[in-house]
Amino acid sequence: MELIEHLNWRYATKKFDPVKKIPPEALEQLKDVIQLSASSYGLQWYKVLIIENQRIKEELFSYANQHQILDCSHLFVICNYTSFTNDDVDGFITRLADTLQVSRSTVVEYGDFIKNELTGKSPAERTSWLKSQTYIALANLIAGAAELKIDACPMEGFQAGKFNEILGLNEQGLNACVIAAIGYRHSDDPASARKKFRRPKEELFVQI
Ligand SMILES: Cc1cc2nc3c(=O)[nH]c(=O)nc-3n(C[C@H](O)[C@H](O)[C@H](O)COP(=O)(O)O)c2cc1C
Repeated sequence: MELIEHLNWRYATKKFDPVKKIPPEALEQLKDVIQLSASSYGLQWYKVLIIENQRIKEELFSYANQHQILDCSHLFVICNYTSFTNDDVDGFITRLADTLQVSRSTVVEYGDFIKNELTGKSPAERTSWLKSQTYIALANLIAGAAELKIDACPMEGFQAGKFNEILGLNEQGLNACVIAAIGYRHSDDPASARKKFRRPKEELFVQI
């Protein structure tokens, strides 16, 4: 299975080659894998900032202290929306009907179902649900990058509040949930030689 080979090839890259940049076609493919990611109800209620600008990366680095931010080719900031309203569901349902080329009335029940499900969640549950969606995009991004022999480092070690300020996310109702530095490993990244360390299958799985 090629995916397993790709997953064995990849590792959380600690040192990127700052000279090597991702070509535009590969960047488009990485956008494709995120766009095609599964999401709860198909809502994809998140946004991804792709940062190449070195000055902005330097500013963000002050609030993460992870060198990958400076050396990577592109920094993906995967942001969850901080709220989700019935109007947003209506907009989604309209787009869905247009895409499937069906009348709005045939999918409106689906919209009502989503609204019911969401109103049943507490604010904390809703936030947790909104954030959890971004990790599916993150996982596909990392696996997709590996297939293209592009390196990645997913990171949660950053000050989201500061990232939100610097990137103007608060005003857009967004929150920097998780980030991924993308680029090419440096030839002397010590982490590249580290053995894969994983929980044994007998601990990880229960087959019933
Ligand atoms: C959600 C998430 C957050 C992570 N945060 C960081 C981080 O802040 N800094 C870092 O260097 N690695 C980070 N990692 C990388 C993990 O430490 C790494 O994936 C794990 O140790 C397994 O190693 P491997 O990915 O090299 O196989 C993160 C990984 C995930 C999935």
